[in-house]
Amino acid sequence: MADSEMELKNRTSDKLKDSPDSPDCEQSEPLDFKRSERIDLSTLVSLSDFELAVKDFISPMAYEYLLAGASDEVTLGWNRQSFNNLRLRPRVLIDVSEIDTNVRLLGERLPFPILLAPCAYQRLFHEEGELATVRGANQAKAIFTLSTMGTTSVEAVVQEATNAVWFQLYVQRDKAFTKSIIQRVEDAGVKALMITVDTPVIGTRNRETRIKFQLPSEFERPQLSGFKWDDSTTHRPRDGEIYSSLFDPKLNWKDVEWMCSFARVPVLLKGILNPDDAAIACDSGVAGVIVSNHGARNLDTVPAAIDALPEVVERIAGRMPVLMDGGVRRGTDVLKAIAFGADAVFIGRPYLYGLGVAGAAGVARVINILRNEFEMAMALTGCTSIEKIGKTVIW
Ligand code: FNR
Repeated sequence: MADSEMELKNRTSDKLKDSPDSPDCEQSEPLDFKRSERIDLSTLVSLSDFELAVKDFISPMAYEYLLAGASDEVTLGWNRQSFNNLRLRPRVLIDVSEIDTNVRLLGERLPFPILLAPCAYQRLFHEEGELATVRGANQAKAIFTLSTMGTTSVEAVVQEATNAVWFQLYVQRDKAFTKSIIQRVEDAGVKALMITVDTPVIGTRNRETRIKFQLPSEFERPQLSGFKWDDSTTHRPRDGEIYSSLFDPKLNWKDVEWMCSFARVPVLLKGILNPDDAAIACDSGVAGVIVSNHGARNLDTVPAAIDALPEVVERIAGRMPVLMDGGVRRGTDVLKAIAFGADAVFIGRPYLYGLGVAGAAGVARVINILRNEFEMAMALTGCTSIEKIGKTVIW
Protein backbone atom coordinates (compact mmCIF):
# COMPACT_ATOMS: atom_id res chain seq x y z
CA MET A 1 0.00 0.00 0.00
CA ALA A 2 1.35 3.47 -0.89
CA ASP A 3 2.20 5.81 2.02
CA SER A 4 -0.59 8.20 1.14
CA GLU A 5 -3.12 5.40 1.09
CA MET A 6 -1.84 4.09 4.41
CA GLU A 7 -2.09 7.56 5.94
CA LEU A 8 -5.64 7.91 4.68
CA LYS A 9 -6.60 4.57 6.14
CA ASN A 10 -5.08 5.49 9.50
CA ARG A 11 -6.94 8.79 9.54
CA THR A 12 -10.27 7.03 9.20
CA SER A 13 -11.72 6.31 12.61
CA ASP A 14 -14.29 3.56 12.92
CA LYS A 15 -17.01 5.76 14.30
CA LEU A 16 -16.92 8.33 11.52
CA LYS A 17 -16.49 5.94 8.69
CA ASP A 18 -19.58 6.24 6.58
CA SER A 19 -22.58 8.38 5.75
CA PRO A 20 -26.11 7.79 7.00
CA ASP A 21 -26.77 6.68 3.50
CA SER A 22 -23.82 4.58 2.59
CA PRO A 23 -22.00 1.43 3.49
CA ASP A 24 -18.68 0.94 5.21
CA CYS A 25 -16.08 0.62 2.51
CA GLU A 26 -12.55 1.39 1.51
CA GLN A 27 -12.11 4.78 0.03
CA SER A 28 -10.49 7.42 -2.12
CA GLU A 29 -10.19 11.10 -1.09
CA PRO A 30 -13.53 12.73 -0.19
CA LEU A 31 -12.21 16.28 0.21
CA ASP A 32 -10.58 17.72 -2.87
CA PHE A 33 -11.68 21.33 -3.24
CA LYS A 34 -10.63 23.17 -6.36
CA ARG A 35 -11.09 26.72 -5.11
CA SER A 36 -8.34 28.06 -7.35
CA GLU A 37 -10.75 27.62 -10.24
CA ARG A 38 -12.60 30.80 -9.39
CA ILE A 39 -15.77 31.39 -11.29
CA ASP A 40 -17.62 34.53 -12.25
CA LEU A 41 -20.97 33.84 -10.60
CA SER A 42 -22.80 36.07 -13.06
CA THR A 43 -22.08 33.43 -15.71
CA LEU A 44 -24.29 30.96 -13.80
CA VAL A 45 -27.84 32.04 -14.54
CA SER A 46 -29.96 29.03 -13.56
CA LEU A 47 -29.91 26.33 -10.90
CA SER A 48 -29.00 23.77 -13.55
CA ASP A 49 -25.94 25.88 -14.45
CA PHE A 50 -24.86 25.43 -10.83
CA GLU A 51 -25.49 21.69 -11.06
CA LEU A 52 -23.18 21.47 -14.06
CA ALA A 53 -20.54 23.72 -12.53
CA VAL A 54 -20.25 22.06 -9.12
CA LYS A 55 -18.63 18.94 -10.54
CA ASP A 56 -15.43 20.93 -11.13
CA PHE A 57 -15.27 22.19 -7.54
CA ILE A 58 -15.78 19.17 -5.29
CA SER A 59 -14.38 15.66 -5.11
CA PRO A 60 -15.96 12.85 -7.18
CA MET A 61 -16.97 11.23 -3.90
CA ALA A 62 -18.76 14.34 -2.62
CA TYR A 63 -20.36 14.79 -6.03
CA GLU A 64 -21.79 11.27 -6.11
CA TYR A 65 -23.10 11.66 -2.55
CA LEU A 66 -24.74 14.95 -3.48
CA LEU A 67 -26.46 13.76 -6.64
CA ALA A 68 -27.39 10.26 -5.55
CA GLY A 69 -30.96 9.02 -5.56
CA ALA A 70 -32.17 5.64 -4.38
CA SER A 71 -31.81 2.46 -6.46
CA ASP A 72 -32.52 3.12 -10.16
CA GLU A 73 -33.28 6.79 -9.49
CA VAL A 74 -36.73 6.45 -11.02
CA THR A 75 -38.33 8.78 -8.46
CA LEU A 76 -35.37 11.16 -8.84
CA GLY A 77 -36.34 11.58 -12.49
CA TRP A 78 -40.05 11.88 -11.65
CA ASN A 79 -39.34 14.68 -9.14
CA ARG A 80 -38.30 16.78 -12.14
CA GLN A 81 -40.48 15.32 -14.88
CA SER A 82 -43.69 15.84 -12.95
CA PHE A 83 -42.97 19.53 -12.54
CA ASN A 84 -42.19 19.79 -16.24
CA ASN A 85 -45.38 17.96 -17.20
CA LEU A 86 -47.54 20.56 -15.47
CA ARG A 87 -48.48 23.32 -17.91
CA LEU A 88 -49.20 26.83 -16.75
CA ARG A 89 -52.33 28.79 -17.62
CA PRO A 90 -51.30 32.44 -17.99
CA ARG A 91 -53.51 35.52 -17.65
CA VAL A 92 -52.90 38.79 -19.49
CA LEU A 93 -53.88 42.43 -19.06
CA ILE A 94 -53.63 42.35 -15.30
CA ASP A 95 -51.70 45.11 -13.53
CA VAL A 96 -48.63 43.25 -12.24
CA SER A 97 -46.53 46.33 -11.55
CA GLU A 98 -46.32 45.23 -7.92
CA ILE A 99 -45.76 41.63 -6.85
CA ASP A 100 -45.97 40.66 -3.19
CA THR A 101 -44.21 37.39 -2.35
CA ASN A 102 -44.62 37.69 1.44
CA VAL A 103 -45.99 34.67 3.29
CA ARG A 104 -46.84 33.89 6.90
CA LEU A 105 -45.54 30.59 8.21
CA LEU A 106 -45.82 29.37 11.81
CA GLY A 107 -46.63 32.91 12.87
CA GLU A 108 -43.58 34.43 11.15
CA ARG A 109 -43.50 36.62 8.07
CA LEU A 110 -41.16 35.41 5.32
CA PRO A 111 -40.28 37.59 2.32
CA PHE A 112 -40.76 34.62 -0.05
CA PRO A 113 -41.82 30.98 0.33
CA ILE A 114 -38.47 29.26 -0.33
CA LEU A 115 -36.49 27.64 2.53
CA LEU A 116 -33.31 25.57 2.75
CA ALA A 117 -33.87 21.85 3.45
CA PRO A 118 -31.72 19.96 5.96
CA CYS A 119 -28.71 18.35 4.29
CA ALA A 120 -26.00 16.37 6.07
CA TYR A 121 -22.22 16.83 6.00
CA GLN A 122 -21.88 20.21 4.31
CA ARG A 123 -18.13 20.37 4.89
CA LEU A 124 -17.92 17.86 2.05
CA PHE A 125 -18.89 20.69 -0.30
CA HIS A 126 -17.02 23.63 1.21
CA GLU A 127 -14.44 24.04 3.96
CA GLU A 128 -16.80 26.30 5.93
CA GLY A 129 -19.71 23.89 5.58
CA GLU A 130 -22.96 24.94 7.28
CA LEU A 131 -21.47 28.28 8.34
CA ALA A 132 -21.09 29.30 4.71
CA THR A 133 -24.62 28.11 4.02
CA VAL A 134 -26.07 30.15 6.84
CA ARG A 135 -24.16 33.23 5.66
CA GLY A 136 -25.62 32.72 2.19
CA ALA A 137 -29.08 32.33 3.73
CA ASN A 138 -28.49 35.58 5.63
CA GLN A 139 -27.63 37.44 2.42
CA ALA A 140 -30.71 36.10 0.66
CA LYS A 141 -33.00 36.31 3.73
CA ALA A 142 -33.95 32.63 3.79
CA ILE A 143 -34.52 30.15 6.63
CA PHE A 144 -31.88 27.44 6.95
CA THR A 145 -32.65 24.02 8.42
CA LEU A 146 -29.68 22.40 10.15
CA SER A 147 -29.44 18.59 9.94
CA THR A 148 -28.76 16.30 12.91
CA MET A 149 -25.88 15.11 10.72
CA GLY A 150 -24.56 18.64 10.23
CA THR A 151 -20.84 19.21 10.61
CA THR A 152 -21.24 22.51 12.52
CA SER A 153 -22.75 22.94 15.96
CA VAL A 154 -26.26 24.29 16.32
CA GLU A 155 -24.94 27.02 18.63
CA ALA A 156 -22.46 28.28 16.03
CA VAL A 157 -25.08 28.18 13.27
CA VAL A 158 -27.70 30.08 15.27
CA GLN A 159 -25.13 32.64 16.37
CA GLU A 160 -24.16 33.29 12.75
CA ALA A 161 -27.75 33.49 11.51
CA THR A 162 -29.68 36.70 10.99
CA ASN A 163 -32.83 34.78 9.98
CA ALA A 164 -34.61 31.97 11.78
CA VAL A 165 -32.86 28.60 11.90
CA TRP A 166 -34.86 25.36 12.01
CA PHE A 167 -33.49 22.01 13.19
CA GLN A 168 -34.02 18.62 11.59
CA LEU A 169 -34.07 15.69 13.99
CA TYR A 170 -33.18 12.08 13.32
CA VAL A 171 -34.76 10.47 16.37
CA GLN A 172 -32.28 8.33 18.27
CA ARG A 173 -32.94 4.93 19.81
CA ASP A 174 -32.01 6.31 23.24
CA LYS A 175 -35.03 8.45 24.12
CA ALA A 176 -33.28 10.38 26.91
CA PHE A 177 -30.56 11.30 24.42
CA THR A 178 -33.17 12.33 21.87
CA LYS A 179 -34.81 14.57 24.46
CA SER A 180 -31.45 16.13 25.33
CA ILE A 181 -30.85 16.97 21.64
CA ILE A 182 -34.25 18.66 21.41
CA GLN A 183 -33.65 20.67 24.55
CA ARG A 184 -30.17 21.64 23.42
CA VAL A 185 -31.31 22.93 20.02
CA GLU A 186 -34.20 24.80 21.63
CA ASP A 187 -31.79 26.41 24.11
CA ALA A 188 -29.57 27.36 21.17
CA GLY A 189 -32.52 29.26 19.69
CA VAL A 190 -33.89 27.24 16.78
CA LYS A 191 -37.41 28.29 15.82
CA ALA A 192 -38.85 24.96 14.69
CA LEU A 193 -38.12 21.26 14.96
CA MET A 194 -38.50 19.11 11.88
CA ILE A 195 -38.63 15.39 12.60
CA THR A 196 -37.65 13.25 9.63
CA VAL A 197 -40.04 10.31 9.60
CA ASP A 198 -39.20 8.63 6.30
CA THR A 199 -35.93 7.04 7.37
CA PRO A 200 -36.44 4.11 9.79
CA VAL A 201 -33.87 2.45 7.55
CA ILE A 202 -31.72 4.00 4.84
CA GLY A 203 -32.42 3.55 1.16
CA THR A 204 -30.29 1.82 -1.43
CA ARG A 205 -27.68 4.22 -2.81
CA ASN A 206 -25.80 2.38 -5.49
CA ARG A 207 -23.88 5.48 -6.60
CA GLU A 208 -22.39 5.88 -3.14
CA THR A 209 -21.59 2.20 -2.87
CA ARG A 210 -19.85 2.20 -6.22
CA ILE A 211 -17.64 5.16 -5.31
CA LYS A 212 -16.97 3.69 -1.85
CA PHE A 213 -18.28 6.76 -0.09
CA GLN A 214 -16.95 7.51 3.35
CA LEU A 215 -16.50 10.51 5.57
CA PRO A 216 -13.15 12.10 6.35
CA SER A 217 -11.99 11.12 9.82
CA GLU A 218 -11.72 14.74 10.95
CA PHE A 219 -15.43 15.35 10.45
CA GLU A 220 -17.48 15.89 13.57
CA ARG A 221 -21.21 15.59 14.16
CA PRO A 222 -21.61 18.08 17.01
CA GLN A 223 -25.36 17.52 17.34
CA LEU A 224 -24.62 13.91 18.28
CA SER A 225 -22.04 14.73 20.92
CA GLY A 226 -22.86 12.48 23.84
CA PHE A 227 -23.82 9.62 21.53
CA LYS A 228 -22.41 6.36 22.86
CA TRP A 229 -20.24 5.37 19.89
CA ASP A 230 -18.96 1.83 20.02
CA ASP A 231 -17.82 -0.88 17.63
CA SER A 232 -21.38 -1.65 16.64
CA THR A 233 -22.12 1.95 15.59
CA THR A 234 -22.66 2.08 11.85
CA HIS A 235 -24.88 4.14 9.64
CA ARG A 236 -25.23 1.32 7.26
CA PRO A 237 -26.38 -2.10 8.27
CA ARG A 238 -23.85 -4.87 8.20
CA ASP A 239 -24.15 -7.42 5.41
CA GLY A 240 -27.52 -9.08 5.42
CA GLU A 241 -29.05 -6.56 7.85
CA ILE A 242 -31.09 -3.45 7.17
CA TYR A 243 -30.86 -1.42 10.40
CA SER A 244 -28.45 1.32 11.42
CA SER A 245 -27.66 2.19 15.02
CA LEU A 246 -28.03 5.92 14.25
CA PHE A 247 -31.73 5.74 13.36
CA ASP A 248 -34.60 4.40 15.43
CA PRO A 249 -36.56 1.79 13.47
CA LYS A 250 -39.19 1.70 16.24
CA LEU A 251 -40.11 5.36 15.75
CA ASN A 252 -43.93 5.65 15.73
CA TRP A 253 -46.83 8.03 16.34
CA LYS A 254 -46.61 7.65 20.14
CA ASP A 255 -43.03 8.99 19.99
CA VAL A 256 -44.25 11.96 17.95
CA GLU A 257 -46.91 12.73 20.58
CA TRP A 258 -44.27 12.36 23.29
CA MET A 259 -41.91 14.84 21.58
CA CYS A 260 -44.75 17.28 20.99
CA SER A 261 -45.63 17.06 24.70
CA PHE A 262 -42.43 18.81 25.76
CA ALA A 263 -41.15 20.63 22.66
CA ARG A 264 -41.13 24.41 23.15
CA VAL A 265 -41.03 25.16 19.41
CA PRO A 266 -43.41 24.03 16.65
CA VAL A 267 -42.81 20.44 15.51
CA LEU A 268 -43.12 19.49 11.84
CA LEU A 269 -42.98 16.05 10.25
CA LYS A 270 -40.79 15.68 7.17
CA GLY A 271 -41.32 12.85 4.74
CA ILE A 272 -45.10 12.51 4.46
CA LEU A 273 -46.40 11.22 1.12
CA ASN A 274 -49.49 9.22 2.07
CA PRO A 275 -52.60 11.30 2.84
CA ASP A 276 -53.57 8.76 5.52
CA ASP A 277 -50.37 9.69 7.40
CA ALA A 278 -51.17 13.36 6.90
CA ALA A 279 -54.57 12.78 8.52
CA ILE A 280 -52.98 11.13 11.57
CA ALA A 281 -50.44 13.97 11.78
CA CYS A 282 -53.29 16.44 12.23
CA ASP A 283 -54.26 14.70 15.47
CA SER A 284 -50.76 14.08 16.81
CA GLY A 285 -49.90 17.57 18.02
CA VAL A 286 -47.61 18.62 15.19
CA ALA A 287 -47.70 22.09 13.64
CA GLY A 288 -47.20 21.10 10.01
CA VAL A 289 -46.00 18.50 7.53
CA ILE A 290 -43.47 18.43 4.72
CA VAL A 291 -44.50 16.41 1.69
CA SER A 292 -41.18 14.90 0.67
CA ASN A 293 -39.60 11.75 -0.70
CA HIS A 294 -36.24 12.74 0.82
CA GLY A 295 -35.02 14.06 -2.50
CA ALA A 296 -35.71 10.57 -3.94
CA ARG A 297 -32.90 9.18 -1.79
CA ASN A 298 -34.78 6.57 0.23
CA LEU A 299 -37.51 4.51 -1.41
CA ASP A 300 -37.38 4.40 -5.18
CA THR A 301 -40.58 4.41 -7.28
CA VAL A 302 -42.64 6.40 -4.75
CA PRO A 303 -44.34 9.30 -6.53
CA ALA A 304 -42.77 12.67 -7.16
CA ALA A 305 -43.39 14.99 -4.23
CA ILE A 306 -45.38 17.38 -6.43
CA ASP A 307 -47.66 14.48 -7.42
CA ALA A 308 -48.26 13.50 -3.79
CA LEU A 309 -48.94 17.07 -2.69
CA PRO A 310 -52.55 17.66 -3.87
CA GLU A 311 -54.03 14.65 -2.04
CA VAL A 312 -52.22 15.55 1.19
CA VAL A 313 -53.45 19.13 0.96
CA GLU A 314 -56.98 17.91 0.33
CA ARG A 315 -56.91 15.56 3.33
CA ILE A 316 -55.46 18.17 5.71
CA ALA A 317 -58.04 20.70 4.52
CA GLY A 318 -56.36 23.76 6.00
CA ARG A 319 -55.81 22.29 9.47
CA MET A 320 -52.06 22.95 9.38
CA PRO A 321 -49.38 24.21 6.98
CA VAL A 322 -48.20 21.86 4.25
CA LEU A 323 -44.71 22.37 2.86
CA MET A 324 -42.98 20.35 0.17
CA ASP A 325 -39.59 19.56 -1.30
CA GLY A 326 -38.13 17.47 -4.10
CA GLY A 327 -37.10 18.62 -7.56
CA VAL A 328 -37.75 22.35 -7.17
CA ARG A 329 -35.36 23.94 -9.68
CA ARG A 330 -37.32 26.79 -11.30
CA GLY A 331 -39.48 29.66 -10.16
CA THR A 332 -42.32 28.03 -12.10
CA ASP A 333 -41.91 24.94 -9.85
CA VAL A 334 -42.40 27.10 -6.75
CA LEU A 335 -45.52 28.58 -8.37
CA LYS A 336 -46.89 25.10 -9.21
CA ALA A 337 -46.32 23.81 -5.66
CA ILE A 338 -48.13 26.82 -4.21
CA ALA A 339 -50.91 26.39 -6.75
CA PHE A 340 -51.39 22.86 -5.43
CA GLY A 341 -51.68 24.16 -1.89
CA ALA A 342 -48.14 24.20 -0.47
CA ASP A 343 -47.47 27.06 1.96
CA ALA A 344 -43.79 27.04 1.02
CA VAL A 345 -41.12 24.88 -0.61
CA PHE A 346 -37.62 23.76 0.30
CA ILE A 347 -34.62 23.27 -1.91
CA GLY A 348 -31.91 20.72 -1.07
CA ARG A 349 -29.33 19.91 -3.73
CA PRO A 350 -29.44 23.30 -5.50
CA TYR A 351 -28.10 25.29 -2.57
CA LEU A 352 -25.41 22.65 -2.03
CA TYR A 353 -24.38 23.22 -5.66
CA GLY A 354 -24.07 26.90 -4.79
CA LEU A 355 -22.13 26.07 -1.65
CA GLY A 356 -19.71 23.87 -3.58
CA VAL A 357 -19.13 26.42 -6.32
CA ALA A 358 -18.67 29.56 -4.23
CA GLY A 359 -19.56 29.12 -0.55
CA ALA A 360 -21.91 31.72 0.93
CA ALA A 361 -22.03 33.78 -2.27
CA GLY A 362 -23.05 30.70 -4.27
CA VAL A 363 -25.81 29.78 -1.81
CA ALA A 364 -27.15 33.34 -1.91
CA ARG A 365 -27.07 33.45 -5.71
CA VAL A 366 -28.99 30.18 -6.03
CA ILE A 367 -31.73 31.46 -3.71
CA ASN A 368 -31.87 34.84 -5.45
CA ILE A 369 -32.15 33.28 -8.91
CA LEU A 370 -35.03 31.06 -7.79
CA ARG A 371 -36.78 33.88 -5.98
CA ASN A 372 -36.44 36.15 -9.01
CA GLU A 373 -37.80 33.47 -11.35
CA PHE A 374 -40.72 32.90 -8.98
CA GLU A 375 -41.63 36.58 -9.04
CA MET A 376 -41.51 36.56 -12.86
CA ALA A 377 -43.72 33.46 -12.97
CA MET A 378 -46.22 35.21 -10.69
CA ALA A 379 -46.25 38.26 -12.93
CA LEU A 380 -46.66 36.21 -16.11
CA THR A 381 -49.58 34.28 -14.66
CA GLY A 382 -51.22 37.45 -13.37
CA CYS A 383 -50.76 36.62 -9.66
CA THR A 384 -49.81 39.70 -7.68
CA SER A 385 -49.72 37.99 -4.26
CA ILE A 386 -49.32 34.48 -2.87
CA GLU A 387 -53.05 34.30 -2.01
CA LYS A 388 -53.85 34.80 -5.70
CA ILE A 389 -51.92 31.66 -6.74
CA GLY A 390 -54.52 28.92 -7.04
CA LYS A 391 -55.19 25.79 -9.07
CA THR A 392 -56.38 28.01 -11.91
CA VAL A 393 -52.75 28.72 -12.84
CA ILE A 394 -52.35 25.06 -13.84
CA TRP A 395 -53.59 24.32 -17.38
C1 FNR B 1 -30.50 15.31 2.09
N1 FNR B 1 -31.73 15.23 2.73
C2 FNR B 1 -31.77 15.11 4.10
N2 FNR B 1 -32.96 15.09 4.75
C3 FNR B 1 -33.02 15.00 6.10
O1 FNR B 1 -34.11 15.00 6.66
N3 FNR B 1 -31.86 14.94 6.83
C4 FNR B 1 -30.62 14.93 6.26
O2 FNR B 1 -29.61 14.89 6.95
C5 FNR B 1 -30.57 14.98 4.85
N4 FNR B 1 -29.36 14.95 4.20
C6 FNR B 1 -29.30 15.14 2.84
C7 FNR B 1 -28.07 15.21 2.21
C8 FNR B 1 -28.00 15.47 0.86
C9 FNR B 1 -26.65 15.56 0.20
C10 FNR B 1 -29.18 15.66 0.11
C11 FNR B 1 -29.14 15.99 -1.36
C12 FNR B 1 -30.41 15.57 0.73
C13 FNR B 1 -32.99 15.46 1.96
C14 FNR B 1 -33.30 16.96 1.86
O3 FNR B 1 -33.64 17.47 3.12
C15 FNR B 1 -34.48 17.25 0.92
O4 FNR B 1 -35.58 16.46 1.30
C16 FNR B 1 -34.15 16.98 -0.55
O5 FNR B 1 -32.83 17.32 -0.86
C17 FNR B 1 -35.11 17.78 -1.44
O6 FNR B 1 -34.94 17.45 -2.78
P1 FNR B 1 -34.02 18.31 -3.82
O7 FNR B 1 -34.31 19.76 -3.61
O8 FNR B 1 -32.61 17.95 -3.47
O9 FNR B 1 -34.46 17.78 -5.15
